[in-house]
Amino acid sequence: MSTLIQAIRGMNDVLPGESHVWQYVESVLRRLMAAYGYAETRLPIVEKTVLFKRSIGEVTDIVEKEMYTFEDRNGDSLTLRPEGTAGCVRSGIENGLFHSQAQRVWYMGPMFRHERPQKGRYRQFHQLGVEAFGLAGPDVDAEIIAMSARLWRELGLANDVRLEINSLGSPEARARYRDELVAFLAARESELDEDSRRRLHSNPMRVLDSKNPDMQQLIAQAPHLEQYLDAESAEHFKALRAALDTIGIAYEVNPRLVRGLDYYGKTVFEWVTDRLGAQGTVCAGGRYDGLVEQLGGKPTPAVGFAIGLERLVALVDNEQLPQIAFHPHAYLVAVGEAAASHSLGLAERLRDAIPGLRLQLNCGGGSFKAQVKRADKSGANVALIIGEDEVQSGLVGVKRLREDVGQQSLGEVALIAELEAMVGREGEWA
Ligand code: HAM
Repeated sequence: MSTLIQAIRGMNDVLPGESHVWQYVESVLRRLMAAYGYAETRLPIVEKTVLFKRSIGEVTDIVEKEMYTFEDRNGDSLTLRPEGTAGCVRSGIENGLFHSQAQRVWYMGPMFRHERPQKGRYRQFHQLGVEAFGLAGPDVDAEIIAMSARLWRELGLANDVRLEINSLGSPEARARYRDELVAFLAARESELDEDSRRRLHSNPMRVLDSKNPDMQQLIAQAPHLEQYLDAESAEHFKALRAALDTIGIAYEVNPRLVRGLDYYGKTVFEWVTDRLGAQGTVCAGGRYDGLVEQLGGKPTPAVGFAIGLERLVALVDNEQLPQIAFHPHAYLVAVGEAAASHSLGLAERLRDAIPGLRLQLNCGGGSFKAQVKRADKSGANVALIIGEDEVQSGLVGVKRLREDVGQQSLGEVALIAELEAMVGREGEWA
């Protein structure tokens, strides 16, 4: 017997029984993007490796250890995108989207990082990314935060997430702070854990991000970036906080929030939850005013965020989904050969007549009892029944599967009216 081929660790199937939750969340996201005037952009999953090295940063965890990088047949080094911002900027520059105009875009799709899989952390995961280009903020920073806050409300998650914000300042301010931080950490090198010692000179701000309990006391004593902020960034941050206060979005300033990608400056933020264990960041982002220029475009301010969709879907309570059936409205039972061939045509006529009708046809025959059992299992509200009598009379038996009422016999016109009413009663969500 040949061995079973299994999926790659950390890369998941979304099964038929789960996909409706994804579809629902995606439909809410699409509506939300439209409500804020953001347009979808569709980007390749594979990009040149150098794009990620230059944008995310050579000495970040993502680039150092997590990228799926391979050589193309012609020898180019390519990488499965670990995130979407780099490709979005590449595309914007290449297609001239940033020429003296603002661009507000979003994208949704799979990302790849070779991390150690655990609950909420996968090797193939999905993001919704939102990016606004050509707007120096802080109004647009507040706008995208308001957009994410609205999403939590729409999905019934407002009490499950909290917002943390920080400002990383200008590159110069950050460089000054970095020197101070390195001096502080170097003087205590013997107290650092292995990870932090490795980061001390390559990426010292990430030391502040350490989750190691033994490091927390030392981290608490480290100098604060806030004291080194340049005047412009401090003003920007103040205005953002005022805007969030005005629109009533609660936040906590977390001076230790530094983010794991190098392109950020000024505003950074994360929405975190306690409901997902260690992988509690559902949404994260910030300002990256230098990246477009760094990748060869004209200087263009930019800000954005990405939501981890696996984490978002895990938070959404299936019971809370609006009362929409994802099941068929009706299941067409046909007993006997004549009925089966009659039912194919009837099913097509019903679908023609009633846009939005979800009708499942019994295929593969079976006894009346077996077919009604399948109808029940499908989740349909009604079973439409065709037997030999119905083929003769042109009527259709209508059996309500979720209510205790007797079976009816309806002609096609009455049946269409009945099903139309059923479809019409359902809230439109897609
Ligand atoms: P990030 O913090 O690397 O930022 O990822 C954003 C979100 O993606 C995380 O908060 C998390 O919800 C989800 N995520 C990341 N890695 C995984 C994983 N291995 N498994 C499951 N979910 C994961 C970025 O990617 C930036 N491009 C965000 C951004 C857009 N900044 C500005 N614009």
